[in-house]
Order: sequence, then C-alpha cells, then structure tokens
Amino acid sequence: MQYIFEKGNLHGKKLLLLHGTGGDETSLLEIARYLDEEATILSFRGTVQESGMNRFFKRNGLNQFDLESLEAESDRLVQMITSVSEEKGIALEEWVIVGYSNGANIAAHILLERHFTIKQAILFHPMSLGVDTQEFPISTKNIWLSVSENDPIVSKEASDQLIQQLKNRQVAVTITATDSGHQITMDEIKQAKKWLNERQTL
Ligand code: MLT
Repeated sequence: MQYIFEKGNLHGKKLLLLHGTGGDETSLLEIARYLDEEATILSFRGTVQESGMNRFFKRNGLNQFDLESLEAESDRLVQMITSVSEEKGIALEEWVIVGYSNGANIAAHILLERHFTIKQAILFHPMSLGVDTQEFPISTKNIWLSVSENDPIVSKEASDQLIQQLKNRQVAVTITATDSGHQITMDEIKQAKKWLNERQTL
C-alpha cells in the first residue's frame, strides 16, 4: 500500500490518516497538521479503484458494500499499519486514527471486528457497515465522531447504528453534530482538536 510517513516532534500526537472515496494519502494532511502541528503522520492510500477513485474496500453502488473485500482489505490495512509501526518504532497504542467517510468506515470496522490495540480515533461522518460479529472487550477505546442530519450519504439510521454498536461494546463515544451534509467543517475539526488535546499523549 502506498503511504506517507512524516516524523513529528517527540511530544506530538501520532496521527494515522485514512481518506474518503476519491482521496489519497495527501487529502487529510492539512487537517492533521491543524489538529496538531507537531504530529507524526502516517497516511495510507486505499488500494481499491472505483472509476479512478481510491477507496479502502469495494462497493457495488452507494452503500452496497462488498463484505468480502471489506474483510480482506481490513486484514491488509491492519498488517500494513502493524509493519510500518514496527519499522518506525511506534507502538500501535500511540496512534490516533483520523478517518473520513470511507476511511472512517474501515477504521470503525477494524476497531469493532479485529483484535487491534489502537485505542483512539477521530471519525468524520462514519456509518455502520452492517457487520457486528464480535463481542471481545474494547471498552478501553475512545472515539470522537461527527454526524450530520442532512448527510446525503450517511443516513441517521446508519450513524445511529454505528454509535449503538460502539456503545454496546462500552466504547467511550463523543459525538459532534453538524448540519453541513457529508462535508468536514471547520467547526467539527475544532471540536475534534479539543477532544484530541484532552487525550493523553502516550
Ligand atoms: C462508503 O462507501 O464507505 C460510504 O458510502 C462513504 C463513501 O461515500 O465513501
């Protein structure tokens, strides 16, 4: 998988970026630098192509997810994150995932469905992918996420379902509501930054 790694200040956050459909490893860099200008950044490019757009797993139309691809790509991403982290000498627990849309969706899926020690995530406009097969404890995880009532891609049911899945597993969830559809707004970035600043740097 293609990725960018930028070493930040020793005391900066460790931010792991996963872009939305049609983005790439550079898409969330500006947001990450705003979240913490001293951050170490690891940012991946999704390997699935849809009409020239990068994604992290296949779909067969809007919100018609290819679950086989989702599972295979989740494994691939977990492997990549683990091996790059090892190579760079960064413990998995240090990362805060920053995902948007398709990237936020695969992040939530991994946190719910894989034994994976990353604990913190900022998820812009995520949704449930309808997969809920695990019960192992993930109560030490802490997730900030944004929702929008007029999001044309993520229905209220789909975001509520994800929030419920996380809460059922005792994940601490902080929710910011916006009214700007599927877009990331400055206001929600500021809310995410506030949440991030309250988190302990490991
Ligand atoms: C997805 O396919 O993951 C969601 O529909 C979000 C998106 O449009 O990428």
